[in-house]
Amino acid sequence: MSKIKVGIIGVGNCASSLIQGINHYGKTDGEDAIGLMHWKIGRYKPTDIEIVSAFDIDRRKVGLDINQAIFAKPNCTKIFCPEIAETGTVVKMGKILDGFSDHMKDYNDESTFLPADEEEPDAKEIIEELQRTGTEVLMNYLPVGSEQATRFYANCALEAGVAFVNNIPVFIASDPEWSDRFKAKNIPIIGDDIKAQLGATIVHRALTDLFNKRGVKLERTYQLNTGGNTDFLNMLNQTRLSSKKESKTEAVQAVTAARLEKNNIHIGPSDYVAWQKDNKVCFIRMEGKLFGDVPMNIEMRLSVEDSPNSAGVAIDSIRCAKIALERKLGGALTAPSSYFCKHPPIQYTDDKAYQLMEEFISQDVQAIS
Ligand SMILES: NC(=O)c1ccc[n+]([C@@H]2O[C@H](COP(=O)([O-])OP(=O)(O)OC[C@H]3O[C@@H](n4cnc5c(N)ncnc54)[C@H](O)[C@@H]3O)[C@@H](O)[C@H]2O)c1
Repeated sequence: MSKIKVGIIGVGNCASSLIQGINHYGKTDGEDAIGLMHWKIGRYKPTDIEIVSAFDIDRRKVGLDINQAIFAKPNCTKIFCPEIAETGTVVKMGKILDGFSDHMKDYNDESTFLPADEEEPDAKEIIEELQRTGTEVLMNYLPVGSEQATRFYANCALEAGVAFVNNIPVFIASDPEWSDRFKAKNIPIIGDDIKAQLGATIVHRALTDLFNKRGVKLERTYQLNTGGNTDFLNMLNQTRLSSKKESKTEAVQAVTAARLEKNNIHIGPSDYVAWQKDNKVCFIRMEGKLFGDVPMNIEMRLSVEDSPNSAGVAIDSIRCAKIALERKLGGALTAPSSYFCKHPPIQYTDDKAYQLMEEFISQDVQAIS
């Protein structure tokens, strides 16, 4: 059986965890493997994923074998699989556009992006590289706020006939114009903005659902997040944040019994704390009223390594995109998008999204896509 050929845009911490994971699970034994939602999706195990193309703009990554580039600075995520053989897949220079925010220049080399001086490719060259390498699924891991760059690479995927997994909060799968373009070419797309395996969004949604099911009225909530990786550094630029805030806020609003007024819900990245590196800390507070109108509140603190938390979901999105290709499904894959992403084309509760995603995997495709 041939492997799933994957391309990566942005060889940062999320890509590092994903690639480490593909190698890590090659050393573990099937169904007992820890940390996966599925050992097999369709015919595919995690180790049936192969990275065949990669683009970045950082001078410490461009030109390196992908398996070395994932350990280059400023990547700082936990290394849980240090021994990785070279692949022959060399990271190519990408198109910068709005991928690099000016404020990133004010930080030391260890913590920030250092754009390479190499000539930037045009769309034709990227499309050729995707076709030359036989890339089937393209993973978008650009920094938040990369509106132009995401559209540029999504167009390349469309032209090259490659499935697109949009892990970031630029609205592509959830924008009907874009999803129609993928549908017209019969190319699958999953998105937008990956929902981590056990992260702030899924926990906040689960607690919101609990309020609903137990008849407690949610009146006010916040979710404050801090971290010390380049994702959080990039997000210090407030002008890049509007879609991130919308994506994260809407993910919770969508499961409230009654939508909260704007002033009563505050969700977003809150600060950059350099020493935290890839450890993300999230503080959630929820205030409500229970029996007899009596007030209650919950305070919760979640601490997670940010990037493996996304890879635990990415490893399933890739395999869902591949089975969609095999089944010749095009356009936004609504079931996987709703379970794997914060801002999907259709928001379901997580219970419903889980059921639909499992149905999608186990063949009952025509009815739900
Ligand atoms: N960790 C999670 O759980 C999670 C959840 C949801 C969304 N995301 C999003 O996923 C994205 C990736 O996260 P990360 O932690 O890997 O970020 P990162 O900062 O570690 O990596 C981004 C990479 O993109 C590269 N890059 C910048 N502009 C580029 C361009 N124009 N072309 C090609 N490469 C370019 C950078 O050099 C860097 O290597 C972010 O937008 C993040 O918000 C992550």
